[in-house]
Amino acid sequence: MSDPGPYQNTEAWALAADRADPLSTMREEFVFPRDRDGAPLVYLCGNSLGLMPKAVPALLEEELDEWGRLGVEAHLQSRRPWFSYHEQFRETGARLVGARPGEVVMMNSLTVNLHLMLVSFYRPAGRRHKIVIERAAFPSDTYAVATHLATRGYDPAEALIQLAPDPGRATIATESVERLLAERGDEIALVLLPGVQYYTGQLFDIPRITAAAQRAGAVAGFDLAHAAGNVPLALHDWGVDFAAWCSYKYLNAGSGAIAGCFVHERHGKDLAIPRYAGWWGNDPATRFRLHLNESFLPREGADGWQISNPPLLSMTPLLASIEQFDRVGMAALRAKSLRLTGYLEYLIDQLGGGRIEQITPRDPAARGAQLSLLVRDGARALFDRLRAGHVLGDFRQPDVIRLSPAPIYNSFHDVWQAGRALAEALR
Ligand SMILES: Cc1ncc(COP(=O)(O)O)c(C=O)c1O
Repeated sequence: MSDPGPYQNTEAWALAADRADPLSTMREEFVFPRDRDGAPLVYLCGNSLGLMPKAVPALLEEELDEWGRLGVEAHLQSRRPWFSYHEQFRETGARLVGARPGEVVMMNSLTVNLHLMLVSFYRPAGRRHKIVIERAAFPSDTYAVATHLATRGYDPAEALIQLAPDPGRATIATESVERLLAERGDEIALVLLPGVQYYTGQLFDIPRITAAAQRAGAVAGFDLAHAAGNVPLALHDWGVDFAAWCSYKYLNAGSGAIAGCFVHERHGKDLAIPRYAGWWGNDPATRFRLHLNESFLPREGADGWQISNPPLLSMTPLLASIEQFDRVGMAALRAKSLRLTGYLEYLIDQLGGGRIEQITPRDPAARGAQLSLLVRDGARALFDRLRAGHVLGDFRQPDVIRLSPAPIYNSFHDVWQAGRALAEALR
């Protein structure tokens, strides 16, 4: 089907754009929730909790069958042996974030992985002991870094540098991060910033920030909760030291799904890096020698940061989800995402400003799929009216509505319906 050309605020244009979309059939691979009255929901909430791939129940059923059929012997004999279950993501997990095989491991949850990374990579020494995060960071990240400061004897009030948005803006310019690192670099041990900021939707310039942090002698780590599966990443080539992300947002693996963790190869090869050890991070050749193997020998790569054996039932949905991302590829998803989110922006612009201000950058290169709308006067009431119009985004206190068309399952028609519902809700 041919491209329908420049955006138009008509249902016919949206439907034509869907017909021209090479990824339009992916939608059929997901289960879409319905509203309480049975009406179809326009689901623009993939930045919070992604939809369930239809392949998940059968895969879970298979694992349950193997458990029933084989018991403990499923560790080695099941069709996807549990002993090496996490290794199924070695290639696909790496491709998802632009890493080399071995730099990525799927394990734990996001905040737990951040803690594990901070144990290893926050190495304060004298004056260089501060951690940089953004001022309105997701609270779990703030709690995590404050814990590491406190447990090493630093007062977070002194040692936590919280980057404020630039004057008159909701976002933080890359130049502001670079300036801070150039001016105060000798105080800073570690920078932990988002890939995509959860509240504003800003996509940070990961390669430039990584370079600036490392120039200053600091470690560069990223929370990719809102970036993984949303924007193309090249963590290896960018030289990022570590990163962690969850799998229940754009990655559609279910609430609390097993998270991801990236450790750059140059650190993965360094077996002397201190870490919280557990048997699953040990060299698999000796992992099962149990009491005969008293000293911990970490496996090379991100695998060496694992602690416990992988929780099978939480990991299985990820198989379905990562397979989809690997099949479609982040480049194709990004191409669609730019057009889809651009369409949402176009429709919102047609509403004529006034009560709604988009705080997400207008530059498509500086954002992912999400648009954050600051609503003056009655933000919650507007959100509720939108919800009553069968559009599900999410509301963030005190006055922001986030709408996020996920390119893997949302359509141009979804976005057009959201635009129409927003116009009605404003009336
Ligand atoms: C940016 C960010 N960091 C951390 C978390 C916490 O994730 P988890 O509960 O998986 O540790 C979230 C959850 O939404 C998040 O959005």
